[in-house]
Parts: sequence; structure tokens; C-alpha cells
Amino acid sequence: MGKFFDGFVAGAILIFVGIFLFLYFGFIDPRADMPNNTVSTWVAAPSLDAAVRRLAPPVWDPVQPDEPNLVAGMKIYQAHCSTCHGDVAHRESAFAEALKPHPKQFVQDREDLPENEDFYIILHGIRWSGMPSWNHKLAEKQIWQVITFLTAMPKLPPSVTEQWKAAAAASRPMF
Ligand code: HEC
Repeated sequence: MGKFFDGFVAGAILIFVGIFLFLYFGFIDPRADMPNNTVSTWVAAPSLDAAVRRLAPPVWDPVQPDEPNLVAGMKIYQAHCSTCHGDVAHRESAFAEALKPHPKQFVQDREDLPENEDFYIILHGIRWSGMPSWNHKLAEKQIWQVITFLTAMPKLPPSVTEQWKAAAAASRPMF
């Protein structure tokens, strides 16, 4: 039993050291323009989902989805988010393909996370991805306004859609 236990501990240590050396000596591909690898698909993505689900506080959108709030959210989105997440005039954003992981293109693929998880992600950003933290950049109310806009995006009132189209057409594409 003692020998079995020693062997087990030695094996576990070897595996741990092996994984450490694999990472430390750079065997994870750092390029953004390569297909997803096993680590990003099977480890990083589920780990991120689980972490956000566990850490996002139980807070809910206090902002009414009325026209002034939707227009305010649209302007924040257009100014700070559309370059990566796309807009009505640029359904594929400038950075859609250029970032790994790819930023979700919200016009084509509606946002479907619970709003408290959206809040947590927008407030804190996502490390090792292109998603910035908006803490200290946007006020809490502005974050909720942009979430209200994201949630309403597939069914915006026509007057807001018109204003969005005008704002998006006026914004210069980066490339
Ligand atoms: C410089 C590029 C960039 C900008 C600017 C940016 N994002 Fe992101 N965002 C990303 C990337 C990349 C991801 C994907 C991260 C991942 O999957 O690990 C992401 C993820 C997200 C997610 C999670 C989506 C999901 O369903 O998994 C939300 C919500 C989000 N961003 C909202 C915003 C909002 C709102 C803004 C503007 C205030 C914004 N982002 C600005 C790059 C960006």
C-alpha cells in the first residue's frame, strides 16, 4: 500500500512538472491568426464560462428599456464596442477575424448570456483576450445602458434603429 501510494504521488508530481515545463517553455501557440487549438477549445473556453457563472454577482438591469436609455446605450456601443463587435453598417467588425478568441458579432449572433454575466464581463474585461475592462472608463449606469441596448438589439424600436443606422454609417471603418 505504501509503495503504491509513493508511486501515485511520484506520478502526480511528474505530470504536474511535465505540464509546467510544457507551458513554461512555450509549447502553447501564441498566434492570433491560427485555428483554435485543443487547449483553447477544451480547457480555456469552458473554464471562462464556469468562472463567469461562479463569480458574477446576482445583480439585475435597473435601467428601463425606453428610448432615451436605448439611444444612450447605442451611442456607448457605437463609440466603444462596435470596432470589435460589429454594428448595423458593419455586421463583420474590423477585428472580427483578427482577434482570437473572436469577439461575438452581436448583430448576427444575439447576446444570450444572463445580464449579470454581461455586467461582470463588461466591468472587468476578459484576461488573455481582446475584451477590455470598462471599470473606471464607463459609469455603472452606462454599463447597464449598453446591456439594455444589447438585450434589445434584435427588437429595437424603429426610431432607435434609424438613429443607429445614421451613427454607424457615419463612423469610419478602421481598415
Ligand atoms: C478590442 C476589442 C473589443 C472591444 C473594444 C470590446 N470587446 Fe467585448 N469582447 C471582445 C472579445 C475578443 C471577446 C471574447 C472573449 C472570449 O471569448 O474570451 C469579447 C466578449 C464580450 C462579451 C461576452 C460575449 C459572450 O456571449 O461570450 C460581451 C458581453 C462583450 N464583449 C461586450 C462588450 C461591450 C459592451 C463593449 C463596449 C463597451 C465591448 N465588448 C468592447 C473584444 C472586444
